[in-house]
Amino acid sequence: MHAIPKTRILGTGSYAPARVVPNAELEGVVDTSDEWIATRTGIRRRHFAAEGEATSDMAAEACRRALSAAGLNAADVDLIIVATVTPDSPIPSCAVLVQKKLGASEIPAFDIAAACAGFIYGITIADQFIATGAARCVLVVGVELLSRAVNWTDRTTCVLFGDGAGAVVLGPASMKRTGEPDREPALAPGILSSCIFTDGSLAGALRIPAGGSARPADDEVLRTRQNKVHMDGQDVFRTAVKQLTASSTQALKASGLTSRELDWVVPHQANLRIISQVSQRLGFPLEKMVLNLEEYGNTSSASIPIALDEAVRDGRIVAGHHVLMCALGAGISWGAAVVRI
Ligand code: COA
Repeated sequence: MHAIPKTRILGTGSYAPARVVPNAELEGVVDTSDEWIATRTGIRRRHFAAEGEATSDMAAEACRRALSAAGLNAADVDLIIVATVTPDSPIPSCAVLVQKKLGASEIPAFDIAAACAGFIYGITIADQFIATGAARCVLVVGVELLSRAVNWTDRTTCVLFGDGAGAVVLGPASMKRTGEPDREPALAPGILSSCIFTDGSLAGALRIPAGGSARPADDEVLRTRQNKVHMDGQDVFRTAVKQLTASSTQALKASGLTSRELDWVVPHQANLRIISQVSQRLGFPLEKMVLNLEEYGNTSSASIPIALDEAVRDGRIVAGHHVLMCALGAGISWGAAVVRI
């Protein structure tokens, strides 16, 4: 039997900065090639924020678009959760700035830092608030401005990432959008299951080593770029294939669905080779995986909500579809969720 959802997606929205940077442009920055990046990762382009454009600007725009899709406005929102590891500044949180930019009322707003798994963490937290009645309408936005967080002399990382934001408006499963037809209770839309994990013993695999309280930024930190992203790509790769498969299987089981009942998988967009291996292990065809890393690169916590929004807007994902989402990133933290649209 399918699980009974408490929380549903009422609208999706996303935003990518206007500047598109093809792989070829990076050939002039580090010793790399379009061919290496495309064949090793599947990435061909990414978007970079304009000078003066901040993480909170991108997040607020994605939220406006999600609210508009839901037929709601900022006054309807009673909680904002921003998943990001690249906030405008440490204090205040990015969520505070998003609240201000949306003109929302005195509602709680906070950030969560679960890197690429941030969106799955965000909807899992929102689901708890809504299920307990503590909140009714929650904005969850995944947003990253990684072009300012990578080491532009390290070719093994700087070619992988992009900037962008994706948001969902969540509400009680019983809530209907204007004009939406009634559905049988057994087909009620919503989050059927979600699971989240962290393995801190792998904390060193993907990190920004300094610039925080343990080692504040000083001349040495800046000179050696210890305030930028460092990654052991192969460790992350291996763990991603293993844990994305395991958590997806767990979320699927908890949802009561079989993999045949799934219409789409929206995986975190880090590397096409990771996604292909997960697709094989899950026995789920690659053609049914929503892919956009060719266009955006890895936008960390923004990658799933951007891909979800695109697939909803272009009509691939429609009402009644069952969608599995899965992500893994720094922590190492990961998770998966199954949603009926
Ligand atoms: N351009 C050209 N060559 C590059 C390069 C680049 N941008 N980056 C690395 N190389 C070189 C390496 O220096 C190495 O050269 P060598 O054999 O002379 O030493 C060679 O390519 C192979 O490097 P390797 O690290 O073994 O490549 P890989 O196949 O493991 O791919 C990643 C590297 C980063 C693409 C891959 O490990 C990966 O995607 N890991 C997961 C990363 C990820 O998803 N992170 C985010 C999680 S949210």
